[in-house]
Parts: sequence; C-alpha cells; structure tokens
Amino acid sequence: MRFLIFGSRGQLGRELTIEVIQRGFCCTSLSREEADVTDHQKVRDIVKSISPDIIINATAYNDVDQAELEPDKAFAVNSHAVRNLAKCAEEVKAILVHFSSDYVFDGKKGSPYTTLDEPHPINVYGKSKLEGEQHVIEIMRRCFIVRVSWLFGFGKANFPLKLLEMAKKQKTIKVAIDQINSPTYTVDAAKGVMELILKGKFGLYHVVNKGYCSRFEWAQEILRLIKWPGEIQPGKMEDFPGIAKRPRFTALDTTKFERETGFFLPSWRDAVERFLCELGEGGDAV
Ligand SMILES: NC(=O)c1ccc[n+]([C@@H]2O[C@H](COP(=O)([O-])OP(=O)(O)OC[C@H]3O[C@@H](n4cnc5c(N)ncnc54)[C@H](OP(=O)(O)O)[C@@H]3O)[C@@H](O)[C@H]2O)c1
Repeated sequence: MRFLIFGSRGQLGRELTIEVIQRGFCCTSLSREEADVTDHQKVRDIVKSISPDIIINATAYNDVDQAELEPDKAFAVNSHAVRNLAKCAEEVKAILVHFSSDYVFDGKKGSPYTTLDEPHPINVYGKSKLEGEQHVIEIMRRCFIVRVSWLFGFGKANFPLKLLEMAKKQKTIKVAIDQINSPTYTVDAAKGVMELILKGKFGLYHVVNKGYCSRFEWAQEILRLIKWPGEIQPGKMEDFPGIAKRPRFTALDTTKFERETGFFLPSWRDAVERFLCELGEGGDAV
C-alpha cells in the first residue's frame, strides 16, 4: 500500500508518518512548504503523480482564537482544501483519511459525544472543521473521518508542553476546572488510525485516549508526575478569556472505533506518563 500524507510537520502528521513507515508501507509525507493544500492545482498534480492508495490529511488551521479574526484562512485550509483533496482522492480512487475535532460540538450534552450526536459548532474553527467533514462525506464513500481532541505529542506547542514551561518559571499555576475533554496522545492516535485503516469500515469515528478529565485534572497529573513543588489552583474558563467561544464538555465516546477495530487506546493518564517519560520529564512508564 502506498500512502501520501499532507501535514508531515504537524503533531499528528509526524506520528502518522512514523507509524506508516514502521509498518513497512511506502510513504510520501509532505510539509506545508512541499505541498500547501490551499494550492489546489499543485495538490492535484502531486496526487496524480504519486497515485497513492491512501491519502492522509493531517493539515489544519488550528488556531481557534485567530480563526475568529481571519475566518477565510481557517475555511481555506479546513474546508475548501479538504473538498479539493476529496475530489483528488476520488480521481485516483484513493481512500482519504481526514481529521476533525471535538469542537464540532457545542459542549452542552454533558456526557461523551458519540458519532451519532448532531454537531453544533460555536466558533469559526469548529464550523470550518464541520464543513470539511461534510465535503468529505458528500464527495467520497471510501473515507475515514476521525475526530480527535486535546492532542499532545512531539512538535508544536500543546497544553502539556506549555504547562511544563510554566512550571519552570512559576510557583503557582491556575487551570480551568470546568473545561472537560479527552486528552489524546498523538502516538496512540496514530496507532489507532492505522488499525482503523487496516480493519475498519469506512465512516466517521472518534479516536481518543480512554477516559476524560478537566483541564485542571490533566495539569494536576502532569505536575504530580514531574514532582513539581508549586501550587496548582482551580480556575474557571472565564478566568482565561479568549477571542473564540469554547465548548465546556466535549469528551468523545470511542465505542464505535473499539467495536470496529477491537483496538483500545490506553487511558489518558497512561498516555501522559509515557509522553513525559519520552521527554525525560519524569513518569515511570517504560
Ligand atoms: N491540536 C489539537 O488539540 C486538536 C484538537 C482537535 C482536533 N485536532 C485536529 O487534528 C488534526 C491534527 O492536528 P495537529 O495538532 O497535529 O495539528 P498541527 O500540529 O497544528 O499540524 C497541522 C499541520 O498542518 C500544516 N498546515 C497548515 N496549513 C497548511 C496548508 N495550507 N498546507 C499544508 N499544510 C498546512 C501545518 O504546517 P506548519 O507546520 O507549517 O504550520 C502543520 O504542520 C487536525 O485536523 C486538527 O484540526 C487537533
């Protein structure tokens, strides 16, 4: 099987590239410099010349606050480029794996969202991601749409990395206790996605680490594992105002993914411990 990955330098794109290569598949993995997905003709030329079996779109416009100020840019990457990619995939009869977000939901349900729950995004980022999903569903049958949330891993700044920086400089750290979600380690998500590609039926899936927590609990676990001597204080989402509205509770239910693949992602606590261990920041995981 021949893979073509867009967004190779992103957190998830990086791990997917490693996973594909480790499994012995042929892989072309391209960064934004090598393939800007908003350049539709260039993407079409690349797809045609490689003629892959599987295209993975790990690109995204991910800045939730900035998306409110420049919605055109967010939609260009998260929606219009996705429509083009889906068309290109169809033209060469490739399977498309596309990623979406828990932010397609408004957070009002109060329990983990399943793939059957109706999306209702409350910010530009969420709306652009939902539109991207819709394009893929309209254009393709042979596709996997994978929603993930609170991604952390190697590469870009993410919450655990920011927290570790704060812990070096501050004696007290305040974190929101009323924002709840499913932290997801990119290493685990990449393995899950590969299982899905190899075993799953086409369709929409939620792939996140097992369980969910508040951002406060997530921080507490990280700071406990690194034996940080400071004080962590519970705050409210209102204490950290952003430009975009954010949903409060967007934990994702992974039952469909587990049923289809027989594969279970480890708990988020286990994932955090392994991540810190990899960073050399404490944690006893092997
Ligand atoms: N991060 C999260 O917490 C989170 C939560 C829910 C869902 N997701 C979804 O999960 C997927 C992976 O997210 P991630 O955290 O791995 O994202 P990421 O680390 O921000 O990576 C996204 C990659 O896309 C690239 N990119 C942006 N615009 C592009 C363009 N026009 N053409 C080509 N490449 C472009 C970026 O390039 P540069 O490196 O040059 O910037 C970056 O390497 C995305 O679909 C995202 O929406 C993420």
